[in-house]
Amino acid sequence: MPFDVAEALRTHHGEGYALHERHLNFQLARVLKTIGFDRFYVRGEGSYLFDAEGERYLDFLSGFGVYALGRSHPALKAALHQAIDLDLPNMVQMDCALLPGLLAEQLVQRCGDNINRVFFCNSGAEAIESAIKFARQATRRPRVLFADHAFHGLTTGALSLNGSEDFREGFGNLLPGTTPVPFGDIEALRKELRRGDVAAFVVEPIQGKGVYMAPAEYWKEAQELCRQYKTLLVIDEVQTGLGRTGKFFCYEHWDLEPDIITVSKALSGGYVPVGAVLTSDRVFSSIYSSLEKALKHSTTFGRNQLAMVAGLATLAAFDDEDIVERSRLTGLAFEAALAPLVERYEMFHEVRGKGLMIGLEFGPPSSKGLRRRFNTLERLRPAIFTQMLVVPLFHRHRILTQVAADNVNIIKLLPALICGQEEIDYFVAALDDVLADAHGSGLLIEFGRTMAAGALRRSGKLRPDSPYDPPSHNGNGSANGNGNGNGSSHDRVPAPSKASSASITRP
Ligand SMILES: Cc1ncc(COP(=O)(O)O)c(C=O)c1O
Repeated sequence: MPFDVAEALRTHHGEGYALHERHLNFQLARVLKTIGFDRFYVRGEGSYLFDAEGERYLDFLSGFGVYALGRSHPALKAALHQAIDLDLPNMVQMDCALLPGLLAEQLVQRCGDNINRVFFCNSGAEAIESAIKFARQATRRPRVLFADHAFHGLTTGALSLNGSEDFREGFGNLLPGTTPVPFGDIEALRKELRRGDVAAFVVEPIQGKGVYMAPAEYWKEAQELCRQYKTLLVIDEVQTGLGRTGKFFCYEHWDLEPDIITVSKALSGGYVPVGAVLTSDRVFSSIYSSLEKALKHSTTFGRNQLAMVAGLATLAAFDDEDIVERSRLTGLAFEAALAPLVERYEMFHEVRGKGLMIGLEFGPPSSKGLRRRFNTLERLRPAIFTQMLVVPLFHRHRILTQVAADNVNIIKLLPALICGQEEIDYFVAALDDVLADAHGSGLLIEFGRTMAAGALRRSGKLRPDSPYDPPSHNGNGSANGNGNGNGSSHDRVPAPSKASSASITRP
């Protein structure tokens, strides 16, 4: 019997978590149950997800940044249907097909004059792996620098450039010659480059983990230093690329001319995995230096036609809908809408980022009573405060967000670039609501109840599909945001344990 997608989804509805617990990453299932994020989504459209009950969720994760155009974009769907129906001769391998050529042409047209070659692969991490090889081969040098806090993927080479011990730990010796430098510190970079043995400095223009930014003046100097010491500047645009920050590439904010650019995520349209390394003739010629070396670096699915169609249809939609400019303007509107909340709430310290890559940083309030409570919580588990915001944003307001990195009180927003004032207003009102309760004890009580229900779900004592019962949130906390919540039941709330405050962070 041919496989029937709709029938399979109907027959097995609700079995996803059990199957993950049995055969896939059971810890992921546990975490999601713990924080009550275990919903059964059945449809995605634009900025929204829908569950089986028809409830709508505002998706500010965008699949970790792949849904620049939102979900189920009609032009992408049409192009992919068309490609399948054309019975294209896919992955002939001994062939130079047209579509990879067209997509490469489109990509290099959007870069500086020095970039004219493209290597297609399947993911962000694979693009980074390729960039490491390209840079070492082109310069015949061994070392690669990366920034602290960096995230470039989790395959072994990319992990060697990861700035977090949590990700690196347990996998033995990673790539030799990979050295961290503090992000934004020009003297530290100079010190390493001066040794003359550095093939590449691999860096995110805005760090995904925490939405950290280097001072504007850093970038030109870093580029100059790389040129001076003949080190390739590799800008990782896997997350920031394709309009995310209000320019097509984020490096355009500082007028840079990188030697290698890595791209992935949004180029896929959210449909077919794709990665790309964009670089110069010179770098390419060092790898593909003779007829015998025509396949020296390659990957089976690299130029597959569906990925190419997804990429071409994505870029066409970007042009048709002026997505990059839209992202810039919506980013500005978002910043303006959030500013009053930064004024109003002491623990809301900063909004940062560019375009629609937005970091919301929280921290200790200035008034004594509130600070004591905040610090007590943080001693129980660092960054618990932000988790306490992310959970009710989801449960009360059905907004999907994430904590930006381990142990930091930063929420990261990656909305679809097609979102607009309606989504901004909805999010800001929701954040206002949960922050108002954060000044009292309401949020802590609600968080405790969510975690308790999560523990029951995990243990199977609560039906997996039993709906979350949102506590009434006006009774316990201060809804007026003046920090005078009664706080009387604070002591009765169980302390969040490490397991009960589980969170998932991905850049
Ligand atoms: C800047 C950056 N580089 C590389 C990667 C790795 O991409 P992938 O998850 O597709 O391997 C990511 C993923 O989040 C990223 O943000």
